[in-house]
Amino acid sequence: MKIALGADHAGFRLKDEVIAYLKQEGHEVEDFGCHCADSIDYPDYALPVAERVANGEADRGILICGTGIGMSIAANKVPGIRCALVHDLFSAKATREHNDSNVLAMGERVIGPGVALEIIKVWLETPFSEGPRHRNRIGKIKGLEEKFAVHP
Ligand code: RB5
Repeated sequence: MKIALGADHAGFRLKDEVIAYLKQEGHEVEDFGCHCADSIDYPDYALPVAERVANGEADRGILICGTGIGMSIAANKVPGIRCALVHDLFSAKATREHNDSNVLAMGERVIGPGVALEIIKVWLETPFSEGPRHRNRIGKIKGLEEKFAVHP
């Protein structure tokens, strides 16, 4: 898979571990930074990852900040993005099956790399369940995007 990644100053260390894991697993990785502990603003790093996934240039995105919360809020502002904040294996599987999430957010201050890499493995391997009720609900999310879209 082609996977876009982004992190802020509270998540770049875990991002680097995730990138090493993804490459080892044979995935193509695009790293949008950041690369050091200098304080930066997470929306600036969520945006390029979310855009990449929304326009089809990446299959999935992974975003990491201190809690994962800021990254998930920012990414979910981009139409077409279904970003799931995940810190456990049950949710990693459920959000693929039920929400067809295309971006994963995690917090480096919440979980360690061992759990994070297990979550990523499950999240990448679990298919969308394709059930009509889940399709219908995702259709309603798209309806929300259209309702609040600003048309020039
Ligand atoms: C940075 O201090 C922190 O606020 C950020 O990484 C993230 O946790 C925000 O949601």
